[in-house]
Amino acid sequence: MVAEVVAGLQPRAGGRYVDCTVGGGGHAEAILRASDGAAWVLGCDRDPEALQAAAARLARYAGRIELRLGAFERVGEWWAAGSCDGAVADLGVSSHQLDTPRRGFSFQRDGPLSMRMGPGAGPDAADLVNGLPVDQLAKLFEELGEERHARRIARVIGQERARTAIRSTRQLATLIERCVPRGAVAVHPATRVFQALRMAVNDELGTLERGLRAVWRLLRPGARLVCITFHSGEARVVKQFGQALARAYDTPSGVDVPELRRPRPPRLRWVTRRALSPGEAEQRANPRARSAQLRVMEKLMDSPADDESNHGKEP
Ligand SMILES: C[S@@+](CC[C@H](N)C(=O)[O-])C[C@H]1O[C@@H](n2cnc3c(N)ncnc32)[C@H](O)[C@@H]1O
Repeated sequence: MVAEVVAGLQPRAGGRYVDCTVGGGGHAEAILRASDGAAWVLGCDRDPEALQAAAARLARYAGRIELRLGAFERVGEWWAAGSCDGAVADLGVSSHQLDTPRRGFSFQRDGPLSMRMGPGAGPDAADLVNGLPVDQLAKLFEELGEERHARRIARVIGQERARTAIRSTRQLATLIERCVPRGAVAVHPATRVFQALRMAVNDELGTLERGLRAVWRLLRPGARLVCITFHSGEARVVKQFGQALARAYDTPSGVDVPELRRPRPPRLRWVTRRALSPGEAEQRANPRARSAQLRVMEKLMDSPADDESNHGKEP
């Protein structure tokens, strides 16, 4: 959805933009091109391999692009609050990550069951699959994967790992194929479980919540934030973030009780009333794009410091 990102941000010469999930550098390049190579871009990613690819692709813009390794909740360490004219976050997993078997993201290729987006000490997918109690595994598959057969899959995993550890993507995918009835789901039966594990390993919803707040602080009034989500949980986080800031009142206790509302000007305007989806051609060329939803928000004004103490949600 490169065209929609550029239309949302309207990059200009001299402007400063953050690509929160720079990946292979496609959006960063489009921002630089649209500004005739005269914008500045901070590109960050949790994945060192993504940064290498972005550095190669963007070499001709050296001096205009700053690449940083880390989750985008850290943007405040790299650029100052209020210094930025726009930002884009294109969430989730990259094609490179999915297509690299040793990263362990794909059930279609055999590899170690890792799914770490970047360097990190937390548990990987094999640790979760072999270590979480069966009821917690089922909950994870239900909540992050919206998997209808979550309990059955978790039970079969429990039985299998009592025999032998589950260490490879193929091993896990085959197990799921065997226990989910054929034809019961339109997608590959392992799709939702793999998605749930990946989101848990990388704390994708937690880092998104913290990241939105961090990047919002960087934007100056009038600047825009474009978010592309691929999962209903991500979309919910983005919508709730925007709705809290778009309201013309405050909820001092954090719970929206009409009698306790305190009027205040909205901090945010939705530029897209409804989420945009990719066009048919893009969906045909890239089946993963089918679930993409793009939302654009514009910052109207900064939130005073006391907003943050109200309920800890606003930037
Ligand atoms: C869909 S790809 C982005 C593709 C990119 N827009 C391009 O044009 O090539 C998503 C990227 O976001 C990264 N990522 C996901 N969550 C992140 C986060 N919270 N902070 C930083 N990078 C993240 C992933 O490592 C992956 O490289």
